[in-house]
Amino acid sequence: MKDILDKLEQRREEARLGGGKARIAAQHKRGKLTARERIELLLDKGSFEEFDMFVEHRSNEFGMEKSKIPGDGVVTGWGTINGRTVYLFSKDFTVFGGSLSETHAQKIIKVQDMAMKARAPIIGLFDAGGARIQEGVAALGGYGEVFKRNVIASGVIPQISIIMGPCAGGDVYSPAMTDFIFMVRDTSYMFVTGPDVVKTVTNEVVTAEELGGASVHTAKSGVADGSFENDVECLLQMRRLIDFLPANNESGVPEWPTQDDIDREDHSLDTLIPDNPNKPYDIKELILKVADEGDFFEVSTAYARNIVTGFGRIAGATVGFVANQPMVLAGVLDIDASRKAARFVRFCDAFNIPIVTFVDVPGFLPGTNQEYGALIKHGAKLLFAYSQATVPLVTVITRKAFGGAYDVMASKHIGGDINYAWPTAQIAVMGAKGAVEIIFRGRSAEEIAAQTRQYEDRFLSPFVAAERGYIDDVIMPHATRKRIARALAMLKNKHVEMPARKHDNLPV
Ligand code: HXC
Repeated sequence: MKDILDKLEQRREEARLGGGKARIAAQHKRGKLTARERIELLLDKGSFEEFDMFVEHRSNEFGMEKSKIPGDGVVTGWGTINGRTVYLFSKDFTVFGGSLSETHAQKIIKVQDMAMKARAPIIGLFDAGGARIQEGVAALGGYGEVFKRNVIASGVIPQISIIMGPCAGGDVYSPAMTDFIFMVRDTSYMFVTGPDVVKTVTNEVVTAEELGGASVHTAKSGVADGSFENDVECLLQMRRLIDFLPANNESGVPEWPTQDDIDREDHSLDTLIPDNPNKPYDIKELILKVADEGDFFEVSTAYARNIVTGFGRIAGATVGFVANQPMVLAGVLDIDASRKAARFVRFCDAFNIPIVTFVDVPGFLPGTNQEYGALIKHGAKLLFAYSQATVPLVTVITRKAFGGAYDVMASKHIGGDINYAWPTAQIAVMGAKGAVEIIFRGRSAEEIAAQTRQYEDRFLSPFVAAERGYIDDVIMPHATRKRIARALAMLKNKHVEMPARKHDNLPV
C-alpha cells in the first residue's frame, strides 16, 4: 500500500517539476516565476486545487513521442482570492515553451467550462509561444475551441489575461477576447508574429520590446490595460482587481466593509477648479476624494490619458469611474479616449457595475488625423456604449461640457439617471470665443468682446441646462461624495429593459 501512495507522490513531484530544474533556473534567471509559483502568489494560501496534472500530449510527429511531460505545459484548476472562487490556467514556459497541444487545449477548455457552470471569474496566466508547431492543425483546432469559449463567456463571467512572458499567436488572440489584459514590464511581449518572422516577411528589424513590449501595448496600441514592475507586483494587483469585480453578470457587485463615512464632505474640492477656465487640474484628485478610502484601481492608465477609467467603491460597493482628464489634451475626446472609455463602460454595464462619470470636456478633437482615423465611428462607440447602458448612471459636470461631447458623457438625454453640475460648470455648444466668432463674424473687436461677455454670462454656467431639467441639481463640490452615494443608493434596484433583439450593432 505504501508503495502505491509513494508512487502517487513521486508522479506528482515529477509533474511539479515541469520542464525540469535547468529550465526552471532559466525561467528565474529571466526574472520570471514558474507557472506554479505564480499560482501560489495569486490565490489564497493553500486554496489551489489542481486538475489534470498527469495529462500528456499524444503527438507522434517529429519524435515528440519521446518527450512527454506530465501536465503538458499548462497548470489548471481553481482556488480562492480573498475567499471568492476563481478558475485559472497558468502556462508553463519550461514545457515546450508553454505551447498549446491538443491535450493542453483540453485542459484549458475544462476549466473554461467549469468556470461558466460555476459562474466564477477565470484568469489566464500566459507565458507561451502559441500553437505547438509539431501538432499542426490539432493545436489550431484546440485554439479554436478556446476562442469560442472566450466569446461565449464574454459578458457572463469576468475573464482576465495576465501576460508574463513572450506570447505569440493563439496566446495573444485568446487574451484579446477577454475583458482585461495586464502585462509585466521587460519580461512580457505580445505579438501575432515574433521579430524573426517580421524580419523574414517585411525585412523590418525590430526588437521584441519594440514590437510588443508592455510599453507598446499599454501606451500605443491600447491592447493591454496596464503593466507592472514584476511578477509579484502584478499578481498582487490582480488580487486587488478581483476584489472589485462581480463573480458574474447576475451576482451583483461585491460589497466590502468600509470605515469611510458616506456623508464625508471634502472642502478642498470647492477650490479644485482654477479661476482660469483654460488652466488644467487633476481629475484624479476628485476620484480619490470621492471613492471609499481613496482606493482606486485605474484601468488603461498609460493609454489615452485624456480620459480616466477605473474601479472604486462607494458605500463598500464597486462602481466604475469614467472622467475626462483636463491635465492631458484639455480632456478632449479623441479616437483613443473614445475607444478606451467605450470598452470600460460596456464592461461595467455587462456586469451590472454602476457608472459614475465626471465631465470636463471641451469637445471632440478636430483635424485630419482624427477624421481619417475614423473619429466618427470611434466616438460613436462611446455614445453607443453609454446610450445602451442600463446600470445606474450618475454624472457630475465639474466644468466644461461642450458640444457633442456633452451629449456623449452620460448626459440625461442618453440615459443618465442623476445628472449633477458644480456651480463652475459650463454647458454649451462651444466655448465663448469660438461661438461668438461664428455668430458675429466680421463684427468689430469691441462688439465681439461685448458679445463674448454676454455669451459667457448666459451660457457658460450650469443654469441654462438646470432650467430645462437636464441637470437635476447644481451641487456644492464638497458634497459630491455624499450626493453620489445617495443617488446610487436610490438607484440600487434600477431596472430597465431594452427591446428584444438578437444583438445590437455597435459601430466596431
Ligand atoms: C513548439 C515551441 C513553440 C511552439 C516555443 N517553443 N514556441 N515549441 N511550438 N509554438 C519551444 C522552443 O522550441 C524552445 O524549445 C522553447 O519553447 C523556448 O523557446 P525559445 O524560442 O528558446 O524562447 P524565446 O527565445 O524566449 O522565444 C519565445 C518565443 C519564440 C518568442 C515564443 O519561441 C517563438 O517565436 N515561438 C514561435 C511563435 C509562433 O510563431 N507560434 C505559432 C503561432 S500560430 P527548446 O527545447 O529549444 O528549449 C498560433 C495559431 C493560433 O498560435 C491561431 C491564432 C488566430
